[in-house]
Amino acid sequence: MKATARACANIALVKYWGKRDAALNLPAAGSLSLTLDGLVTTTTVELAPALADDEVTLDGRPATAAEAERVSRFVDLVRAPAGRATRVRVTTGNDFPTASGLASSASGFAALALATTAAFEVTRSPAELSALARRGSGSAARSLDGGLVLMHAGARADGVDAFATALPAAPWQQALRMVIAVVAGGVAKTHGSRDAMEHCAATSPLYPAWIDQVPRDLDAALAAIAAGDVAALGALAEANALAMHATALAARPAIVYWLPATLAALAEVRRLRADGVPAWATMDAGPHVKVLTTAAHAPPVAAAMATVPGVSSTRVCAPGPAATVEVA
Ligand code: PMV
Repeated sequence: MKATARACANIALVKYWGKRDAALNLPAAGSLSLTLDGLVTTTTVELAPALADDEVTLDGRPATAAEAERVSRFVDLVRAPAGRATRVRVTTGNDFPTASGLASSASGFAALALATTAAFEVTRSPAELSALARRGSGSAARSLDGGLVLMHAGARADGVDAFATALPAAPWQQALRMVIAVVAGGVAKTHGSRDAMEHCAATSPLYPAWIDQVPRDLDAALAAIAAGDVAALGALAEANALAMHATALAARPAIVYWLPATLAALAEVRRLRADGVPAWATMDAGPHVKVLTTAAHAPPVAAAMATVPGVSSTRVCAPGPAATVEVA
């Protein structure tokens, strides 16, 4: 039995940054994201009864022991409840740089959740699949759906209510674009998000204020989406990302994801806005700047971002589709 899943990355407009339970990867607050086309992880899971251990290949090379262990532990979440011991061969590849702040863990664990359940012929509802993907990476819960996606924080200790759902699609959303400005060629990130958010929760004096603010930002973002108000959504997303980075900057010791080119890119986004261009920045656990804009403005925004010293490449992404799986 063999299943191949494809899932797109997503970029949060209201960030997930903090857990209420580390073991089950339960978020301390909800989050909101846009699934992006063209940033795809393709993962094949094949049952391999002859193998003694799972075999994991990432982007054409054997996985490191730590990577293979993370994949095996995740596969166990499906394998053990199904009463199976069969090892698997997992082959996964991204068409964008891994572990660079471009959210490869989101598309990766969403694709792995879908391919593993299909390979073991285990049926899961969309909510259950999302909650399963969350166990691999919090943001992965949002990569099973397309378009704008809302992650529910949930309240239960077992996490069954901590899953993501797509927001109703509306025509104006099709005109949203995310321009990704890759800083310093997509270097590996300095602090993984899992450790970094725990460090912020434990040491940053701004973390309590951040966790207070997220539900208000989510309400404001949902109101902007209901009204089709891109400017309000963009302004909110930029403010929310800066607040997340403020918690990291205030952690002790500080976590500084930004490089000089990150600040130059942020300044370019403000300059574009001052010139009347709809453009708002967001950043994740890395130096890259992602700019929310509209289809009509995406080419000039990408061209402007490409002129920023230290920005090595740009890429324009439209809203992406839900994840898919095929069984062979
Ligand atoms: O899914 P994780 O554990 O890699 O955390 C994602 C954290 C951010 O990308 C910074 C924010 C988000 O909501 O995607």
